[in-house]
Amino acid sequence: MTPSKKLYIKTYGCQMNAYDSGRMADVLAPLGYALANRPEDADLVILNTCHIREKAAEKVYSEIGRLRPLKRRKAEAGGRMILAVAGCVAQAEGEEMQRRAPAVDIVLGPQAYHRLPELVARAHRAAGAVLDTAFPVQPKFDSLPAPQAGGGVSAFVTVQEGCDKFCTFCVVPYTRGAEYARPAAAVVAEVEARVAQGVREVTLLGQNVNAYRAEGPDGTTWSFARLIARLDAIPGLARIRYTTSHPLDVDADQVAAHRDVAKLMPYLHLPVQAGSDRVLAAMNRRYTAADYRRTVERLRAARPDLALSGDFIVGFPGESELDFEMTLALVREVGFAQAFSFKYSPRPGTPAAAMPGQVPEPAKAERLARLQALLDAQAKAFNRASVGRRLPVLLERAGRHPGQRVGRTPYLQAVHLAAPATAVGDVVEVDIVAQHPNSLAGRLAGTPEEAA
Ligand code: SAH
Ligand code: SF4
Ligand code: F3S
Repeated sequence: MTPSKKLYIKTYGCQMNAYDSGRMADVLAPLGYALANRPEDADLVILNTCHIREKAAEKVYSEIGRLRPLKRRKAEAGGRMILAVAGCVAQAEGEEMQRRAPAVDIVLGPQAYHRLPELVARAHRAAGAVLDTAFPVQPKFDSLPAPQAGGGVSAFVTVQEGCDKFCTFCVVPYTRGAEYARPAAAVVAEVEARVAQGVREVTLLGQNVNAYRAEGPDGTTWSFARLIARLDAIPGLARIRYTTSHPLDVDADQVAAHRDVAKLMPYLHLPVQAGSDRVLAAMNRRYTAADYRRTVERLRAARPDLALSGDFIVGFPGESELDFEMTLALVREVGFAQAFSFKYSPRPGTPAAAMPGQVPEPAKAERLARLQALLDAQAKAFNRASVGRRLPVLLERAGRHPGQRVGRTPYLQAVHLAAPATAVGDVVEVDIVAQHPNSLAGRLAGTPEEAA
């Protein structure tokens, strides 16, 4: 069918939402929906939302406010703009969302995306809004079409969804439901299909990706490391990454994979959240700061150049100045190449929101600034240490200048270089010559200095 309708998708939140947005576009393509870059004139607008912190959730309502006049204009012109809210806010708020924002035609949770065509058809017929926030996750993966080509050299592949860990601050177990891992054969088939489309790097996604355990093609249960070893054998695939790992699920095989699997990149996102055992216990993280340090030691023994990334929460209920300083101490000791840090945001219905000792906003802001100054300094030092090194770089796209390429090092650093004779998708040896605020500058190994 020739595309005749415009689809605009706005994605918030984590990479799993980015993956889901791609799959929603795929499921709607056969109905004639082609992706547009702007919401103006769109026939269908999907907001793929995030509920993780209050700010993230509130953004959705301001976006709906901005879309309302566009929707009205489209109606005045005799057309119709269907507005769908998907993702974690949809899951968390359900019917309440339709009460608060009557402009919304469809509310659908993260496990209902395969039902989008039907929901869109129903929304066309109905005057009121339609809702689907049912939970079973398997049908979603079984019924969604294979990803379409055109996504570049690096692709996300969701292998695991949901979470059973119930950290006391977090909404994910409520919005994404219980842990579910896709069968290994389905993951392998999807990665092979992506490689056939020109993809050179996959990032395996899951809220707890290293908790992955699922049926293998041989009928036995496959661990996460087993899955990685199988993907390593796919010809044409150059790089394997994954995110997010939970410290509690790091097992000996995952550690060994970082020593043994050539395509597995030396980069690990391993959120610790806090450095005080009292706070970690109140968060229900189920490890101590010493456990985390030991896990990092084991990983670095297996892969000495492993770059670590982390998530941090400051101002969790009951966090004292002393507790917070333990977070700083842990950061100083471990050393992070990259990190995300947040002020604790109380989420409705989570245990921590009702805990005593909520930390006042100014203290949260002050602690976040101190932590971020330390993490920024570590990230800069990490990038500075790359200058003068020769590193393999996967070329991801053309740069802004003629002949320029933009790629990434094994440690996920962006590199700009002049390399007119190379193709996007090549892995090339690059001499890192300088450090910029958000990227590195490189020179193709073996090329003269003035070519940079
Ligand atoms: N499953 C991952 C994290 C997924 S959520 C893990 O357990 O490590 C991504 C990050 O958002 C978390 O690591 C945490 O740092 C942050 N986060 C989650 N809930 C939050 C809240 N209520 N307030 C502030 N930050 C939060
Ligand atoms: Fe949320 Fe904790 Fe699950 Fe991570 S492990 S998704 S922080 S409940
Ligand atoms: Fe946000 Fe849902 Fe991801 S709450 S972080 S979009 S799982």
